[in-house]
Amino acid sequence: MTFICYINDIPEEEQASVNLSNSIDDKFNCLETELDINGQTKPVFLLRHNGGVKAYINACPHTGAKLNWQEGLFLDSEKHYIQCSIHGALFEKESGLCIHGPCAQQHLSQVDIIIENEKVLLK
Ligand code: FES
Repeated sequence: MTFICYINDIPEEEQASVNLSNSIDDKFNCLETELDINGQTKPVFLLRHNGGVKAYINACPHTGAKLNWQEGLFLDSEKHYIQCSIHGALFEKESGLCIHGPCAQQHLSQVDIIIENEKVLLK
């Protein structure tokens, strides 16, 4: 298993916190990083949800483009959904399911993680 970050590196749900370089910035709502997954380097973002952590590949099912234009910003204005900044698709935080937009009913690719002793690990 590969260490990704500490839970506390990921912004609290509905709040802001820090990024991997430990710079505190209120604008972040998710943590961005890159991970080696099956031998390929992939952009990944992590968010807190319902007391847990979710991790997804940063690629919209619509075009494969990155979801965010600005670092660490992945949520809609009410922070209820993950939002693609290109054409506005909305995805459930829990499942990555697109519930609105050009890729409706498709999913973001979830990254398998586990939490151990406050650490987020890639399975
Ligand atoms: S690229 Fe994400 S909705 Fe079109």
